[in-house]
Amino acid sequence: MNAISKIHDSDRYARCIQTSKRVRWDIDKDVIRGRRFDTNHKFLPDGLALADAFTTLSADEKRFVSQIQGRTYANVFGLVERFINAKVLELSEDHWFGDQVALEALVRFSDEELKHQALFRRVDAMVGDILPGGYRFDIDHNSVAHAVLGKSTWAVLALTLDIELFTQLHYRQSIDPDPQLSELFKDVFLFHW
Ligand SMILES: [Fe+2]
Repeated sequence: MNAISKIHDSDRYARCIQTSKRVRWDIDKDVIRGRRFDTNHKFLPDGLALADAFTTLSADEKRFVSQIQGRTYANVFGLVERFINAKVLELSEDHWFGDQVALEALVRFSDEELKHQALFRRVDAMVGDILPGGYRFDIDHNSVAHAVLGKSTWAVLALTLDIELFTQLHYRQSIDPDPQLSELFKDVFLFHW
């Protein structure tokens, strides 16, 4: 029984590697493509920004709020990826001297999450170039990571799975269908998904 489930695990890791090679993308070549953000476009969609709740704001002010919120939305992903990556690297230790296919799958996962963090740092800087100064994202990534990683592995993995699932839902239900959204902002979250 154990031997059979080990084979299946190895197959699943091998499929993860194949898929990660097939869908691999580059921050500049595939996502940014020489573009800049533009303050004429919304960033975070109304469905996530809860724009309707800002009843006293004009349309222009709501768009400005969506740009600030979009920047923070990107920064929150950069924040959670710090602990996700640390957990994946920690789990990889079980395979250092064992199943090298599993090890490769986890290293590739880690590599992707490092790339995502770089993408979101880039988004923060690019949005900072076009919005007024004074924005701060005052959360220490490492303090959050240490707090989360203090919980059990299964709790951290369940939280990670939840994040992966809502990332896809947000894109499909709110980001993709909003025609007023910045195409660059959309692409960031399409490729990230
Ligand atoms: Fe990510």
